[in-house]
Amino acid sequence: MFFHCTFFLRRYTRFSAFFVLASVAGSILVSLLQRFSTPLDADVTVTKGNEFEDYYLKRELLMGIYEKGFERPSPIQKESIPIALTGSDILARANKGTDKIAAFCIPGLEKIDQDNNVIQVVILVPTTELALQTSQVCRELGKHLKIQVMVTTGVTSLTHDIIRLYQPVHLLVGTPGRVLDLVKKGVCILKYCSMLVMDEADKLLSPVFQPSIEQLIQFLPESRQILMFSATFPVNVKDFKDRYLRKPYVINITDELTLKGGVGVYGSFDMVDLAVAQAVNTLNSVSASKQCHFPAIFNFGDSNSDTGGLSAAFGQAGPPHGESFFHHPAGRYCDGRLIVDFIAKKLGLPYLNAFLDSVGSNYSHGANFATAGSTIRPQNTTLHQTGGFSPFSLDVQFNQFSDFQRRTQFFRNKGGVYKTLLPKAEYFSQALYTFDIGQNDLASGYFHNMSTDQVKAYVPDVLAQFKNVIKYVYNHGGRSFWVHNTGPVGCLPYIMDLHPVKRSLVDEAGCATPYNDVAKFFNRELKKVVVQLRKELPLAAITYVDVYAAKYSLISHPKKHGFEEPLRACCGHGGKYNYNLHIGCGAKIKHGGKEILVGKPCRDPSVWVNWDGVHYTEAANKRVLEQIVDGAFSDPPIPLNMACHRNL
Ligand SMILES: *[C@@H]1O[C@H](CO)[C@@H](O)[C@H](O)[C@H]1NC(C)=O
Ligand SMILES: *[C@@H]1O[C@H](CO)[C@@H](O)[C@H](O)[C@H]1NC(C)=O
Ligand SMILES: *[C@@H]1O[C@H](CO)[C@@H](O)[C@H](O)[C@H]1NC(C)=O
Ligand SMILES: *[C@@H]1O[C@H](CO)[C@@H](O)[C@H](O)[C@H]1NC(C)=O
Repeated sequence: MFFHCTFFLRRYTRFSAFFVLASVAGSILVSLLQRFSTPLDADVTVTKGNEFEDYYLKRELLMGIYEKGFERPSPIQKESIPIALTGSDILARANKGTDKIAAFCIPGLEKIDQDNNVIQVVILVPTTELALQTSQVCRELGKHLKIQVMVTTGVTSLTHDIIRLYQPVHLLVGTPGRVLDLVKKGVCILKYCSMLVMDEADKLLSPVFQPSIEQLIQFLPESRQILMFSATFPVNVKDFKDRYLRKPYVINITDELTLKGGVGVYGSFDMVDLAVAQAVNTLNSVSASKQCHFPAIFNFGDSNSDTGGLSAAFGQAGPPHGESFFHHPAGRYCDGRLIVDFIAKKLGLPYLNAFLDSVGSNYSHGANFATAGSTIRPQNTTLHQTGGFSPFSLDVQFNQFSDFQRRTQFFRNKGGVYKTLLPKAEYFSQALYTFDIGQNDLASGYFHNMSTDQVKAYVPDVLAQFKNVIKYVYNHGGRSFWVHNTGPVGCLPYIMDLHPVKRSLVDEAGCATPYNDVAKFFNRELKKVVVQLRKELPLAAITYVDVYAAKYSLISHPKKHGFEEPLRACCGHGGKYNYNLHIGCGAKIKHGGKEILVGKPCRDPSVWVNWDGVHYTEAANKRVLEQIVDGAFSDPPIPLNMACHRNL
């Protein structure tokens, strides 16, 4: 693909952009070649008197200014640069163009301390194309300085932007919504940002952007300076000025001819938006040096991440489990792989073997202590009583882990085949420890006919026990923790079928609100526990992952993710939710001496969210992983492959 677009930027200035997209070995290489012709506009030629030297700018900045083709300050530059350098707020009426962009880039670059790796200047613009153009002008002007410029807009990759922000950024150019998003995620820190520029303020103060901008201002330090540039001064601009600018210096450069000529210049760029986005991502891309190299995974959990534990102890989960991927039962309550399998795959590690699976297991890259039906708190019932919870509760899983650690090292030291089957000693501190447990602690209360309030009341006890286990693992060397919160229990067919709620308590997605409210309560409390643990365990990196939100989005917006009936089980036997407690997925009946499969799977599990009334399909698990892998659902918002970092 090749795009070439040329259009008039100003009366006498031509701007042309080339986007070259070449597909190289399956990956797209985007190179951005952008040239701005020398600004030979009337504004510059009529400038008299002032010289750039008069502003006592840094030598390197002056070099950039001259190399960019500016000989003398244009009227808008002449007015705004010296005032901006004094730290004053400015409201400037100015038309579009490179010289206007330079009028705020120059003081911005001058004020940045390049040895201080924090965001010091933020430039907000209404469109991606203007963000790109602005960053390009700032980069060119600052090319002899060691100032890092970053662009972020709604079309750049959130993942790339998050990763990019771990590297030094001094000047950030972006659209308000995205910048606010990054600020709220805690990755974009504005407390050292002393200059905020709002370009095309009349457009920025449209109802779409204004609330975001007002929120953003709250994150700036008290001593912030705001520069507003606008082609017109409508009421919203004046109003904003009165509320947020402090004794602003008002610049009113008018050039009616230019104003008319400039209308509609931006915005004709949409067709290359993708190219712009990719070009920006390329500019923002960073080295892979911050990636963690997890040599192993140790997982703790319930059926959401059981890869064979319960099957090893209580008999195999029979067909059709495993049919989509393994083509035979594989110890998973799923048609294929689980989230933990996709995590392993993403980290380049083998799928985890269950600790309890003594035949054919290879633990060289980790082990899985999860079993279906596990709870955090030990239950007082057995698997065959109400609800059917696993005896391998989290405390038991920890004991197994502890034993595993000690015994694997003993055997590894014997050499031979043990060396290839068991993890190295150092893997216990380098590994990723994943946790997905708690859902059954909530469900067990419902099976004991407790009210949601009664269940809520014991959540603190459940979480106190969870917290202890994380501490024990830490004391055994664990450092990187990836903690899934609990999913929307109230959207699961088995809960809705067995414990139906009144119509008025069903949400717009069709889920039972009371159960989801308890899950959300559990998650809020879990998050608090994670915050406490971060304080108590100084060397631990603990990532809290909002799996609830990722799963709920599959159920509330199934079409968007390629799914059809999110509330019915793919594999089951009739009823509103295709779920029947007594005739589960894979159940058979004897009829006339013949076995007949009555708990049948749907034809195409890849378009179903729910597999058997309790568990998600492989397709849904894959979608969940895709959503969470880049950190968009995490606190802190770091990607999976960076989860070893405590402070980024
Ligand atoms: C700016 O200048 C124009 C033209 O001289 C004038 O009409 C307008 O009122 C001025 N605006 C302000 C805010 O001073
Ligand atoms: C099991 O019983 C003990 C003793 O009565 C009680 O303290 C504990 O909370 C019970 N556990 C659960 C999960 O109900
Ligand atoms: C165990 O798995 C590792 C990594 O996949 C492999 O290198 C090793 O040879 C395996 N051991 C055996 C005995 O198969
Ligand atoms: C819960 O209530 C149902 C219906 O009233 C009853 O059949 C069941 O035995 C009760 N379960 C427990 C654990 O009390």
